[in-house]
Amino acid sequence: MTKPDMRSCLQLIKPYQPGKPVEEVERELGLKGVIKMASNENPIGPSPLAVKAMKEKFDQMHFYPDGNCFYLKEDLAAKLKVQPEQLIFGNGSDEIIACLAKTYVNPGDEAVMVAPSFSQYDIAMHIMGGVPRHVPLTATDFQYDLDAVLHAVNGKTRFVFLCSPNNPTGTIVRKKELDHFIKQLPEKVMLVLDQAYFEYAKDPDHVTGLEYIEQGYPVISLRTFSKIYGLAGLRIGYGIAPAEVIADLNRVRSPFNVNAMAQAAARAAIEDDEHLERSRKMVNDSRKQLTEGFAELGLKPVPDEANFCFVDLKVDSREAFQALLRRGVIVRTGDIFDFPTFARITYGTPEQNKRFLAALKEVLDELK
Ligand SMILES: Cc1ncc(COP(=O)(O)O)c(C=O)c1O
Repeated sequence: MTKPDMRSCLQLIKPYQPGKPVEEVERELGLKGVIKMASNENPIGPSPLAVKAMKEKFDQMHFYPDGNCFYLKEDLAAKLKVQPEQLIFGNGSDEIIACLAKTYVNPGDEAVMVAPSFSQYDIAMHIMGGVPRHVPLTATDFQYDLDAVLHAVNGKTRFVFLCSPNNPTGTIVRKKELDHFIKQLPEKVMLVLDQAYFEYAKDPDHVTGLEYIEQGYPVISLRTFSKIYGLAGLRIGYGIAPAEVIADLNRVRSPFNVNAMAQAAARAAIEDDEHLERSRKMVNDSRKQLTEGFAELGLKPVPDEANFCFVDLKVDSREAFQALLRRGVIVRTGDIFDFPTFARITYGTPEQNKRFLAALKEVLDELK
């Protein structure tokens, strides 16, 4: 067929490979009770308060949502002790990453990011004809080398993306190093601190990002309701930044980008600290269970501050993925991050972890 040529910069994007729905995997493999430990979701689900708020909203779906997320903005601003004008909500924080690129990137502009990290920074830059520059994390322990990141910044750099805790390694950028880094960053470069897993980090050296915004630096902190809040299916995330940055971003944000159900659920979710505590405890217990289980198999995950771990399985991760899948467990392979023997495992419930470890033992025996 004939069609218009795709924009040439899009040739550089590796299309996202979505996994199959769990139900389809079960049907194809003739299995029941397949578990997904691949997308860093919260296996205990959302707060019951969020579920109640959604039910109450159910019969109002013939109305457009509030395009400005007015009440959610007020509630969250009070909670974070920022001004409502310093917040933007998106259809997931993915959308805000895309908005950042649409707002500030001209063809040929650059962004510096680490590798391995979250793929959407690359994609957002390519869509705008921008150029991602990758700086590797330290080879042995996947830590940030902020001097190397700074070295990659030049006159064309618009953003530095730092993901903390980082997906897929779970490692963080530390306050002392970031305090130094931010002072060296050229004035017009924005620091995008992706904190999708912020609520899980327990290291006292982890930054909130808000301290830099208060000091007047061009910083945006990205957070989400998809992870600890257990609301990934609703698609809602947010950014906190100086009001001037939010005003710029609002020029490209589509008017009804956050649906009404998501707004209602998020308002209720931020009131439920107990749910956050329960979720954190589940992750801490799970980390212990998996670390001990990995040790029995001679494996050592990267120490993480998130709800997942990155572990060298010492076998081809695609083969391990297929073999785990046949046993009803879905994980994320490391090859997509250019670490072909690694896997990223989302911490599960005690039962899920037990099943995963039993399946992994069989798989490693089979593949070694
Ligand atoms: C580091 C990171 N940032 C952002 C996101 C996107 O989250 P959301 O569901 O809010 O679009 C993810 C989701 O996996 C992530 O891992």
